[in-house]
Amino acid sequence: MEINVIAGDIAQIEADAIVVNLFEGVEQPGGATAAVDKALDGAISSLIGRGEIKGKFGEVSIIHTFGKLPAGIVAVAGLGKRQDFNVNKIRGVAGESCRSLRKLNCRKIATILHGAGTGDIELEASAEAIAEGALLGLYSFNKYKKPEYADVEEMLVVVREEGKIPVLEPAVHKGTAIAEATNLARDMVNEPANYMTPTRMAEAAKEIATKYNLEFKVFDSKDMETMGMGALLGVAKGSSQPPQLITLSYKGDERSEKALGFLGKGITFDSGGISIKPSEGMGEMKDDMAGAAAVMAALGAIAQLKPQINVTAIIPATENLPSGTALKPGDVLKAMNGKTIEVISTDAEGRLILADALSYAQKLGLSPLIDLATLTGACRVALGTLYSGLFSNDQDLADKILRAAERTGERIWQMPLPEEYKEQNKSEIANVKNTGNRYGGAITAALFLAEFVDNTPWVHLDIAGTASSNKESGYAVKGATGVGVRTLVELALNAAKSQETA
Ligand code: BES
Ligand code: MN
Ligand code: ZN
Repeated sequence: MEINVIAGDIAQIEADAIVVNLFEGVEQPGGATAAVDKALDGAISSLIGRGEIKGKFGEVSIIHTFGKLPAGIVAVAGLGKRQDFNVNKIRGVAGESCRSLRKLNCRKIATILHGAGTGDIELEASAEAIAEGALLGLYSFNKYKKPEYADVEEMLVVVREEGKIPVLEPAVHKGTAIAEATNLARDMVNEPANYMTPTRMAEAAKEIATKYNLEFKVFDSKDMETMGMGALLGVAKGSSQPPQLITLSYKGDERSEKALGFLGKGITFDSGGISIKPSEGMGEMKDDMAGAAAVMAALGAIAQLKPQINVTAIIPATENLPSGTALKPGDVLKAMNGKTIEVISTDAEGRLILADALSYAQKLGLSPLIDLATLTGACRVALGTLYSGLFSNDQDLADKILRAAERTGERIWQMPLPEEYKEQNKSEIANVKNTGNRYGGAITAALFLAEFVDNTPWVHLDIAGTASSNKESGYAVKGATGVGVRTLVELALNAAKSQETA
């Protein structure tokens, strides 16, 4: 879908549909909604009077214009209560209204800037959120089945003053780049595991690198052996698909040798291995590379937005399968940093591959490090499907990420890393073991990762609960969410800005 900013009177725009809005409880609409109401001889206010249009968040009321306006349909989008309104609500309203209009076969949709009249939301922020919310909300995965509805082809963001166009166009461009990257991550995660193998992941990374001029490297199992990545190799042993260690680098600051490190868990299918999972719901485990997809897609968006900063992504990619050559409970592996690991469960494989990836990130001198991983069912139990868990050895970095997430509408909740629980990862025969006891599983997994980061500032995001959604609402659709992309991009942009001022 193409998004264009134009100046004009929304009531006079030629489109299949125009979108105006209403706060909950407002009886007499104002601004653009009032102008459209007038052109419709008071249809909107009369529907409000009859209680049909309430302005509730998520509500989209359809009014057919039958020749009274150039557009065939007016959609009145509910903004919810004025005091609860924020930029994230704008994303939701854009997603919801575009999806409703797509069902009515609209190909060209014009919208006003939601929240523009409220005073506390900048026009640019609204434009960015509309672009982002519309593209995210209209996403669907169509590779193996024809979509139910035809695509919306064009969205017009309509402002009154011509003079605003130069500031709104870059905002739309930014929202578009971020949403398209999120949708790319969604595409990768939604792909079934018979297609999205480690080799295909490496190809996808190479495609991103070629498109956005990033440096791309890939290491095979021989290289991993040379580098001493016994933990990653241990997980890969059960599969006939060769593992891949992928790196993508963005260089936005030629004067600096420093770079941020993004790491993503890339298990393209997690059967549990010999510690095999129950068959019910196992297919969900094609999502176990959602962290990898997020960091790869984020690098693509960062390369488009060009912040003055360097970022390297590291993606360990493999399947976790049982076989005659598979890793077994009781086996001992040696990670790249020299630590030995007793494998208690082959299903705690994410922390094993990340142990080597984190060791490698430090060898490259990357700092700070942010890893994204669908790491534990325990995190999903603790926080549900809306909040990712954050674990960190550096509160300053944690705060930066929590702030970045807040701006993007991704929800993250900080979890503790108590020293006392470290005991749970102690092994009788090796430096550490790969599972703790029944309780606090998300925390002991994070503490295991901490064994491989030393003093480098580091944040671990457990996205096991948030990587996919079983509900469609606002800008969320069913299936992969692309979680993490938006926060990582925001973080990189902020880091570049704070360097400028430092
Ligand atoms: N990929 C899973 C975690 C997961 C579970 C992600 C549910 C998304 C939804 C991970 O590799 C795993 O199997 N973790 C185990 C750890 C346990 C063996 C200590 C778990 O959570 O059960
Ligand atoms: Mn597992
Ligand atoms: Zn897993």
